[in-house]
Amino acid sequence: MSKINCLPDKRSVEISKSDTVLEALLANGIEHTHVCGGNAYCSTCRIMILDGVQNCSPPTSAERALAKKLDFPVHVRLACQTKVTGDVSIRRMVIDNEDIDILEGQLATGAINSDRNVALLVATIRGETNFDEVNFHYDIVYIMSRYFHRVQKVVGQYGGIIPNVMGVRVMAVFGFEKNASLAAERAVWAGLELLKTIAELNVFLKKLSYKPLNVSVGIHYGAAVLIPIDPSKPNVLTPLGDIVNSVSRIEAANQEVGSDLLVSESIYKQVKDKAMINRNGNITLHKTEFKVYEVTGMQGNPPKVAKVEEFNSPAPKRFMAFLQKFLSK
Ligand code: FES
Repeated sequence: MSKINCLPDKRSVEISKSDTVLEALLANGIEHTHVCGGNAYCSTCRIMILDGVQNCSPPTSAERALAKKLDFPVHVRLACQTKVTGDVSIRRMVIDNEDIDILEGQLATGAINSDRNVALLVATIRGETNFDEVNFHYDIVYIMSRYFHRVQKVVGQYGGIIPNVMGVRVMAVFGFEKNASLAAERAVWAGLELLKTIAELNVFLKKLSYKPLNVSVGIHYGAAVLIPIDPSKPNVLTPLGDIVNSVSRIEAANQEVGSDLLVSESIYKQVKDKAMINRNGNITLHKTEFKVYEVTGMQGNPPKVAKVEEFNSPAPKRFMAFLQKFLSK
């Protein structure tokens, strides 16, 4: 017999060579989640091997297929498929219904490794014409509603999502979906379209004697950790990481440069064959120098964008429906 040290339960259970980890946990009264009944297609029995990975049986073909789909690191295993020949320490990863809700979000985005390269766009209303200081309350609501409506429309049109709005500052993510392509290019097209639609909005506002909106945009590309912020909307992820600070700095640099749309070098490298660049220069963030480029247009046609799906049905049914759909891919 071997021993499983199990976290977060802080319990030790015995396991024979013929039993799976799932069977051993359940036999010892540890309620380990196993939505598909141990058939290697739900992944809710996933465990992290903290110690003794060399004592684990090789993944079965069914486990390998699921692990590939979900981009599991080697130390994440399915308890329903794993047997052991020596002592192991594990952490159970799906403890309760809340975890299942969160898991659904991870399945939707395609991986538990949620680090990925994305393009981030930040748009901010700036300048002396700061309307919230000069207009009445009703006017602010009216203008901002129109503004956000337009931003949302443009970002969605290019396959982005908006996980973050703080006052007059909007952040959009492009490339959060699995197998995303042309995220940088889509973000630049969206940035230009955004400036165009705000210019049109300003004509409308002028007719009504409102102050114009002065919007500047910064775009950066790099690694971000994407966290679902609402289990009922698994496609809405918020990014964390250095990229978030960097893109804010790039957007703010528009004021120094006197530009409307600046992109980082990592964006520029991906769009340089299509982008019309007016000028470039260096900015600093935390003593690190960034090269930025002012983009004034794009040549050719924007890439086509697939529709982003929403998930609105009740949680348990939704999970099983989602699972069937996920497995049929
Ligand atoms: S119980 Fe579903 S994958 Fe293991």
